[in-house]
Amino acid sequence: MDHFEYAGAGMGSGRNVAVFGAYGHTGRFVVAELRERGYVPLLLGRDLDKLLAMAEGSEVRQASVGDPASLDRALKGAAAVINCAGPFATTAAPLIEATLRAGIPYVDVAAEIEANVDTFTHFADRARAAGTVVVPAMAFYGGLGDLLVTTAMSDWTAADEAHIAYGLSSWHPTAGTLASGVISGRRRGGRRVRFTGGRLEYHDDALPTLEWSFPAPLGDQSVIGEFTMADVVTVPSHLDVPEVRTYMAAKAAADLAAPDAPAPEAVDERGRSAQTFVIDVLVRSGGTERRVAATGQDIYAISAPLAVEAVDRILTGRTRTVGVASAGAIFDAPDFLDALSKHLSLRHLSGPGYEGGSTRGTGTGPR
Ligand SMILES: NC(=O)c1ccc[n+]([C@@H]2O[C@H](COP(=O)([O-])OP(=O)(O)OC[C@H]3O[C@@H](n4cnc5c(N)ncnc54)[C@H](OP(=O)(O)O)[C@@H]3O)[C@@H](O)[C@H]2O)c1
Repeated sequence: MDHFEYAGAGMGSGRNVAVFGAYGHTGRFVVAELRERGYVPLLLGRDLDKLLAMAEGSEVRQASVGDPASLDRALKGAAAVINCAGPFATTAAPLIEATLRAGIPYVDVAAEIEANVDTFTHFADRARAAGTVVVPAMAFYGGLGDLLVTTAMSDWTAADEAHIAYGLSSWHPTAGTLASGVISGRRRGGRRVRFTGGRLEYHDDALPTLEWSFPAPLGDQSVIGEFTMADVVTVPSHLDVPEVRTYMAAKAAADLAAPDAPAPEAVDERGRSAQTFVIDVLVRSGGTERRVAATGQDIYAISAPLAVEAVDRILTGRTRTVGVASAGAIFDAPDFLDALSKHLSLRHLSGPGYEGGSTRGTGTGPR
């Protein structure tokens, strides 16, 4: 397999990593993770006061997406940027343009399907020609699902179906999540979207409710089918899977839709909420099934080690390609997940890596 040493023309000091949207809920987790891993975060955002209030000795740089020169100044000396400012329909393109000018890698945490599609559509050729790395959706939704599907696939490059079931104990959304949902909804003209027959399909059908048997201890749960997340962009970007379906625990979907949905509340010293998650991934090819599940705590908090591990691998040349690429395409997926073992527990439930033993309580997927 090919490895490309990252060598962006304008690469700055190796340990400086800019975080755009640094004072947002996810941005703060990313800044903390960078510090923990010995990187020097540069705090970027549109509101100088909010940046100064969280600085703790870090350099702050005000910049706005409507002012390209401010973005260029803010990226001076940065080795890479992590964009945590959503809705990404507004922030991704101007920031990617700035990273192409600066010749540095770009990673974002966008969960907006249309914004992620735009990143692939508008920047694939230019980023590849420039030798720049652009990794959209490098977070819980989009990135982690893709790493898990790629790991479950193992030596397969094609499958008939991929199912990704999100067993969230609850979902207390941030303002950014809600705003991004509104923007995506508007871009779809209020329609729904699913990935079927090898493409995104917009439709008005009601979403099905079904039962999903998660691995123990979660067990059987009601899930909303076709609750379509960013994995429908990342997975088919590099794997030949015509049906990619995502499911959401019905309870978490109801939390998200509640008119007075509370914001996440910190319960530990890392600032994580009590929310737990299981992502149960099943791929099928012919009569064969492969299945992997990951468990952890707090979907926003876990996005930080995902994004920072991505930057670390890009800056140390542990990548497989250049241009716009999803997590599963650009990184060694099982190795990436191994590196996150402090934050994620992984179980191979069938297929390569399955160590056998009792199947009781390991779940049976869709029922
Ligand atoms: N893929 C995933 O799994 C995943 C995980 C975590 C987060 N996300 C996404 O990341 C985004 C942020 O989420 P969050 O939880 O951090 O929300 P948040 O706490 O509400 O923070 C949003 C941040 O974005 C900034 N922002 C918004 N629009 C901006 C603009 N036009 N220019 C500059 N800054 C802007 C906000 O700055 P102001 O205060 O100045 O508005 C704030 O810093 C959302 O789109 C969310 O969906 C995705």
